[in-house]
Order: sequence, then C-alpha cells, then structure tokens
Amino acid sequence: MRFDASGKVSLDHIYTAPDPRTYFQVLRPLGYRVPQLAKPWFDKLIKEYRETERVAVPRVLDIGCSYGINAALLKYDITMDELYARYDGTGPATRAGLLARDQDLSRSRSPAHGLRFTGLDASTSALAYAREAGFLDDTVHADLETDDPTPEQRATLADTDLVISTGCIGYVTERTLTRVVRAQDGRLPWMAHFVLRMFPFGPVEDALAGLGYRTVRVDEVFKQRRFADPREQRLVLDSMAEADVDASGLEEDGWLYAQLYLSRPPQR
Ligand SMILES: C[S@@+](CC[C@H](N)C(=O)[O-])C[C@H]1O[C@@H](n2cnc3c(N)ncnc32)[C@H](O)[C@@H]1O
Repeated sequence: MRFDASGKVSLDHIYTAPDPRTYFQVLRPLGYRVPQLAKPWFDKLIKEYRETERVAVPRVLDIGCSYGINAALLKYDITMDELYARYDGTGPATRAGLLARDQDLSRSRSPAHGLRFTGLDASTSALAYAREAGFLDDTVHADLETDDPTPEQRATLADTDLVISTGCIGYVTERTLTRVVRAQDGRLPWMAHFVLRMFPFGPVEDALAGLGYRTVRVDEVFKQRRFADPREQRLVLDSMAEADVDASGLEEDGWLYAQLYLSRPPQR
C-alpha cells in the first residue's frame, strides 16, 4: 500500500479506470459513504437556493465529481448501496454494457425538480463515463490547482449557482475554488464542501472571505470511510496530532470523519 503526503492511502488508480467498477469495488469494503450522508444536506441547500434566488433549474458544479456520483444521487435518487451493487462486477461485463444500463437509468428516472450538473475533475475517463451515462450535463477536465481555466472551461464554469464537493478538498484547495469563483464575473455561487477533519479548512475559508463569502461549519461530523489499515490510521492520527486536532472518540476508533462547511454571500 502507498500513502500520500497527508498519510492517507493513495487511491489514485481507482479514479482513472474507464468505468466505475474499480472505484466502487475498492471503496465498498472501506464503507465509503460520505456522498450518501451529504445528499440530504445538498438537497436542502438546492431547495433553499431555488426558493430564495427564484431559480427553477439551478446549475450545480461538483468539484472532484469522479464518475458523477453526487449527480446520480441527487438527480435520480439512487443510493450509494445501489451504486455499490450496480458496479460489483456481477452486471454487464463491458463499459458499453454498463453505460447502456446507466443511460436507461438516467432516461427513466427524471428528477423531481430540474437540476443541471457540471462536473469538474482531473480524470478524463471518469468525466467521460459520467457524461455518457447522462449523470453529468457538462464537464470540465482541468486541474485548477495548477492552471487557469481556458476560455472554454471558463464559459462552462460561468453561471454556476451552487458549488459542492465530497472527498475532494485536500486534493483541491483554495486555488481551485478561487479560480471557479473568478469565472463567475462577480456572482458568488453558494458552496457546500464535505471536508475530512484532517485537512485544515482555514486557508479555504480565508480565501473565500476575501472574495466576499461568509462560511459556517455545521456542528455534526460525518463518517467518510474506514481506515484502509492500521498504518494509515497511525499516519493520519500523527498528522492530526501535529495540527492539534483531537481525534478521541472519532478517528481513534477507526473511521475518517468529515465536516460540512457552507459558504455563502452575506444575506442581502
Ligand atoms: C475521493 S474522490 C471523490 C469522488 C466523489 N466526489 C465521491 O465523493 O465519491 C476525489 C476526486 O478528486 C479528483 N481530483 C483529484 N485532484 C484533483 C484536482 N486537482 N482537480 C480536480 N479533481 C481532482 C480525483 O480524480 C477524484 O475523482
């Protein structure tokens, strides 16, 4: 097993397969569940946005969207358990077969309310799958940690109403979020990010404050996944101790936990 600089096990290989099977088969035994726990919060925020901003079909940007998982949950009301079963290797044997089945799903389950989903990710294969399956309406293949968006990417990012993420802050930082906000020509999309407690959110919060946002952290904590093995747990606990984050009763007991940060422009 390889570990990244933060101490987490490196799962990079599961983000780039041509279809979602590796992703779900590797994460299932780890109990990865944060998109499911995030769903009611995202639903609530989108509803609130629709009502207060009077936007019938909000445009949601999912940063680090992978195979369009949050989009599938929110648009088609599917669950993580159903996705784990769907991609467990017992279904269609080919990418084309899996896609045909997912296209049936996205055609047959129209969302109760209109929603447009754009996915931003560094993985071409994950984005291509999510777009072809019909989970995502638009995609931006970019690493905005290192590069400014191209004019075409900027145009796709423009007019975003809400920015969401699960399991992605840490890979992406305030650099990506700032570039996304700068693509809006002055508008400030609402944001909701589920962030592992091991990653300090202060630098993101400060950068967003500089752009005009106010951020609140929801009190609850959310199970993200189990540690892959005792060594990963040890490394993560060490880095949390260095950052002065108390892991007792939480990460010490075997699970990585996330917190939810909501960033919005101040009420007008
Ligand atoms: C842990 S996965 C989370 C996927 C999905 N949001 C979920 O919760 O199931 C992290 C995702 O971030 C993407 N990623 C990593 N670095 C990135 C970057 N610099 N810009 C955009 N996406 C990135 C990876 O390709 C991967 O799809």
